[in-house]
Amino acid sequence: MQVYLGHVIVIRREGFEHHGTCPLGGASLSGHRDRARRRKTLRSSHREYGYEDLKEEWNKYLDETRTHQEILGSVFEAAGLDIGTESPGRSVVRQKGEALVAAVRAARNGDDPKIAELVAAESVVEAESKNHQNWELLGRMVEHLDGELREALSEAYDEVADQEAHHLFHTMGWARELWLDYLGVPAALPPPEEEKQVATQIGAGRAEKQRDEYV
Ligand SMILES: [Fe+2]
Repeated sequence: MQVYLGHVIVIRREGFEHHGTCPLGGASLSGHRDRARRRKTLRSSHREYGYEDLKEEWNKYLDETRTHQEILGSVFEAAGLDIGTESPGRSVVRQKGEALVAAVRAARNGDDPKIAELVAAESVVEAESKNHQNWELLGRMVEHLDGELREALSEAYDEVADQEAHHLFHTMGWARELWLDYLGVPAALPPPEEEKQVATQIGAGRAEKQRDEYV
């Protein structure tokens, strides 16, 4: 899992490396003080605004993911496990992570920066899906444990699970709307998941249902 988390970090870096080469307009409305102003700016300049807002979002995830790695390390310690052990499952997860990174790199080296952005968004969705699933499973395991390990895992879950749900559902929203934008139809950028601060599957469903109001 540690390796997997590490790959998520790499994927995000790849996405940014690509974007870092794009000529962008001066849209740096990354604060949270005036949503209406941001949307107005976005409508007149989808690409520039979308880039800055998504970059801010993923950078936040990156910081959180680094913290999650440390938190998970403390769970391994409580379980008496060596975090450096190479388990059979771990190598499979690594291969999947490397495939996602390769896809992002290939897209970045192509001639369409919008496609590279979409590939990066979809790759993060795939990585975050696995991440979210892992933490859901860890949360379910808490009730079957006891002692120090139960306490460590319970604390870790409480600290991480909501953030992981946020990572997944918000990136799904970004990927959906970036695709619609690419396909030339009205898109809600930033996605309603951002405005509604979605952190559950039900919340994500609601946000998607109401997306027309945000276009
Ligand atoms: Fe995540």
